[in-house]
Amino acid sequence: MDRLVIQGGHPLRGRIRVSGAKNAALPCLAAALLTDETVVLSNLPAVADIRTMVKVLQALGTEAALEAHPDGFELTATLACKGSEDPKAPYDLVKTMRASILVLGPLLARFGRATVSLPGGCAIGARPVNLHLEALERMGAQIEISHGYIHATVKGRLKAIDHAFEKVSVGATENILMAAALAEGTTVLRNAALEPEIGDLARLLVEMGAQIEGIGTGTLTITGVARLRGCEHAVIADRIEAGTYLCAVAAACGDVVLDRCEPEHLRSLLDLLERSGCVITEREGQDGRQLRIQREPGQKLRSKDVTTLPFPGFPTDLQAQVMAVMTQACGISVINEGIFENRFQHAMELERLGANLRTDGHTAIVAGPEELTGCTVMATDLRASAALVIAGLVARGETIVDRIYHLDRGYSGLERKLQGVGARIERVGGGKV
Ligand code: EPZ
Repeated sequence: MDRLVIQGGHPLRGRIRVSGAKNAALPCLAAALLTDETVVLSNLPAVADIRTMVKVLQALGTEAALEAHPDGFELTATLACKGSEDPKAPYDLVKTMRASILVLGPLLARFGRATVSLPGGCAIGARPVNLHLEALERMGAQIEISHGYIHATVKGRLKAIDHAFEKVSVGATENILMAAALAEGTTVLRNAALEPEIGDLARLLVEMGAQIEGIGTGTLTITGVARLRGCEHAVIADRIEAGTYLCAVAAACGDVVLDRCEPEHLRSLLDLLERSGCVITEREGQDGRQLRIQREPGQKLRSKDVTTLPFPGFPTDLQAQVMAVMTQACGISVINEGIFENRFQHAMELERLGANLRTDGHTAIVAGPEELTGCTVMATDLRASAALVIAGLVARGETIVDRIYHLDRGYSGLERKLQGVGARIERVGGGKV
């Protein structure tokens, strides 16, 4: 099994090109099920979750080709979903990636039936899919759960609804948005999630011929059409990947420019890092917008409190990385996890590296600055792994991050990008994504 070996204590200097957003790419891939024409998706990150979603689509009767770009960081998918007699997303694939649930809405809308494995347990807490199922039932779907699978059918087309989500959910908004694109009538989705990845999916759907109003707001109005067409679409930059590298520089010091990112998607983090004492500059580059972060060795960081919330609040997907930063900040930082119930598993591993912190329920308290010293740590989920890498870049001596298959699910070429800015980090063990 691969591991990362990091020699910490070296500031990061140079440039990193931000990859396409995994969490935008996954729903966009699922949207290809809505048409029998060819959909070409580019700027996909070269990560395991993208390959898994393509396998799910293939299992559902999609002809799919994935082309890797020469730099190894990016993929382009060419997809044509002709359909299958018995569309079924099997447990073996769904259990490795919960986002597979995103095929449910498109399959029901286009074929009138779908069988999708229930995703099951998750390292960051209970992640039910009740909001997805409730809305689909209101649209006329018959849903039965048996033998670990969701069996869904609808007579004729799904029917439009005026629906307020009980809770803000990224995945439920995406699933029902896709279903509504082919439903009969005009659907209004209220309390829709505002995450930029939803805007990207909505723009893809519009390119496919969907009629959607209110993109980027909490109320989406979708007038269903009978057919959608193929198109070409490049997914947006990955705000969480960009944020992870910003946190790496904030914690380990240095001066790094991130190319091709979208600062508007990162306001809450940029604000936090600036208030902590990092210098952040934004400008227009040749290849999209750029962000520069500077924190020179010896420049003190101030501790700040963080509460994770739906967008535009502070993203839960950057909570672990910010916790690693706060181990280096002067003072006490109170971190509240407002989205998931069990997303502090990195805390114990950070403690093994020397962090001074305590968790109680949804709250973590970090006291800094604390000198971190390298040891072997174990990754438990994608973003927890990123936090451990950041801590390893700070820690004196050698840190080994084990179980990095979690990282490979969502970070395209993480160690190569970090090597490019001077980090002493190597993958050992031989496996590749
Ligand atoms: C998406 O997950 C992301 N995944 C997650 O990224 C991210 O952490 C999360 O949104 C929150 O921003 C993808 O986009 C593929 P939710 P999702 O539905 O859609 C509860 C990463 O590291 N809920 O917005 O599954 C749920 O339990 C990952 O890249 C219900 O109660 O998240 C949670 O508390 C991990 N019932 C809250 O809503 C439901 O039916 C938000 O979850 C659905 C969700």
